[in-house]
Amino acid sequence: MAYLSTRAIVDKAWRMGIVVPAYNVPHLPMMEPIVRALRDTGSFGLIQVARLETVKFKAESFARIAGEYEKFKDVGFTRLHLDHVPVIDEDGLRIDYVEEITEAMKLGYESVMVDGSRLPFEENVEATRRVVEAAKSFDVPVEGELGAVIGHEAGPMPPYEELFASGKGFTDPREAADFVKKSNVDWLSVAIGNFHGAVAPGRRDDKKIAARLNIEHLKKINEVAGAPLVLHGGSGIQKEYLREAFKNGIAKLNVGTNIRQPYEKGLEESVEKGRELVYAAMIDVIKNELGVEGTAEKLLG
Ligand code: 13P
Repeated sequence: MAYLSTRAIVDKAWRMGIVVPAYNVPHLPMMEPIVRALRDTGSFGLIQVARLETVKFKAESFARIAGEYEKFKDVGFTRLHLDHVPVIDEDGLRIDYVEEITEAMKLGYESVMVDGSRLPFEENVEATRRVVEAAKSFDVPVEGELGAVIGHEAGPMPPYEELFASGKGFTDPREAADFVKKSNVDWLSVAIGNFHGAVAPGRRDDKKIAARLNIEHLKKINEVAGAPLVLHGGSGIQKEYLREAFKNGIAKLNVGTNIRQPYEKGLEESVEKGRELVYAAMIDVIKNELGVEGTAEKLLG
């Protein structure tokens, strides 16, 4: 069977109203049970690592993750994606993002994300456009972000209900359309009530609040953006909102905390126990949370 590119798969998912989950690998031994669970359930997923997972967790490096992926990948069910490389990181530091993303593309990452969401609009457009330019010769799709998907930063979260009700930091639909046109980005990560599970030491074991999504707001973005949309902070969002989101433009959903926390819990006993708990968590996410059993056949068949 011909090898379908990640760009083609996500485009197809977007048109069909199917979601492509992207699973974060902050610890190298998580790779094997993630891929196994996808194969066992016939579910398609991206395997991804974010820059902060190489710094604050045990993913070690983009190269180590790519190496681990090569060992366990199953191209009937998986592709390799580079998650968040921020222009300004969660601690306020400037990152050499074009260089880091280019290094990852050389290593074989099949899609990449540049996160300029902490920048003013025009600077975010410019940073994203630079990465789109660099990705051309690799023929790799680029994900950008517009709006504030909070949670990775240190310090306490503002009260969730207040945030949701005010819509503060939500992606502006008109800006979204403008952003896609000006930057030529392939996929757009949006803020519509979603937030990231905490990664700061001392808070990373916290259970996430069950987030909601403003579906009416999402519809407005989806009507004008003209590109597949991405939802970060996929762990713990209430199911009925997720189902509506997949029908309204969300073609990629990032899942981190829901599989990382079980691994770290299991690790207190052994790596093997950690792996076992990741596998169980994956099955639960695939079958119960997201309802994405059997999507590989629909997307790749
Ligand atoms: P969660 O850890 O909240 O699932 O978010 C993952 C994510 O969005 C990674 O980019």
